[in-house]
Amino acid sequence: MGVAVRHFLQFKDLSLDELTHVLTRTRWIKDRFRRYERYWPLTDRTLVMIFEKQSTRTRLSFEAGMQQLGGNAVFLSTRDSQLGRGEPVEDAAQVISRMSDIVMIRTFEQDVVERFAGVSRVPVINGLTNEYHPCQILADLYTFIEQRGDIRGRTVAWIGDSNNVCNTWLQAAEVFEFNVHVSTPPGYEVEPERAGLYGTDHYEEFRDPMDAARGADLVTTDVWTSMGFEAENEARKRDFEDWQVDADMMRVANKGALFMHCLPAHRGEEVAADVIDGPHSVVWDEAENRLHAQKALMEFLLLGKVEA
Ligand code: CP
Ligand code: NVA
Repeated sequence: MGVAVRHFLQFKDLSLDELTHVLTRTRWIKDRFRRYERYWPLTDRTLVMIFEKQSTRTRLSFEAGMQQLGGNAVFLSTRDSQLGRGEPVEDAAQVISRMSDIVMIRTFEQDVVERFAGVSRVPVINGLTNEYHPCQILADLYTFIEQRGDIRGRTVAWIGDSNNVCNTWLQAAEVFEFNVHVSTPPGYEVEPERAGLYGTDHYEEFRDPMDAARGADLVTTDVWTSMGFEAENEARKRDFEDWQVDADMMRVANKGALFMHCLPAHRGEEVAADVIDGPHSVVWDEAENRLHAQKALMEFLLLGKVEA
């Protein structure tokens, strides 16, 4: 029996110890990159990236990241592969995983990445599904720790839709033992089972977003309408209008609170321009850290615990 292939399909697929290792490696990899020092541990390895939804950051950070580690990246989309013509996911997984060393998938239902991973010979990474966005929260946690230190016991305020990014924050809270204050409009509340939570101990729901933001060390939000939910756009614009992160909300957060957004953002909808472009905001560091965190993740999934 060989060593079991590891995947990153949802945040809690890695243990606290493994995630802490990946975050430590993120720092090391980022520092080397900043000093223009070559680090090619994945020479001759191939990453296949499958996109069934659009992307700027995820594609760029995985493609550039793999090249910077000495490997290659191949881009496949539904539009120009047989995946868009109904080839069974399991058949595609058999073939793709025999021709590559690691796979990243952005798709709709979580079930697709689970089925792919179920027959894949190589590690599979979730690059966003309707349910989860684990790579985003890896980068977000790294960004928080880089700016403010340990996140254990701290408070994160999530304002807006209980979507894939929110669900992943909630999983991360269980693993890293911090608290999430969630405020969603009625009808958009957290579904603990869909979020893949063990319990409800690490989050609290607030009707008023100001109450959620009060005393938070990090205030974060995301688009009101995620990819795949465009038909609900007009209704959501009405339902979410009081869930904009604005300067008043940042004022009731802790002094020195950070603002994060996974991007792309809609100024004037989920976030006011003076917040995302203001002094609390770390959104550009957050986006950059996708690159470094995912390089550390790929290193871990392919090579195990590399020590500096
Ligand atoms: N945050 C994020 O995943 O961005 P993209 O949709 O551009 O990849
Ligand atoms: N929740 C958003 C995140 C985009 C990166 C979406 O799924 O569209």
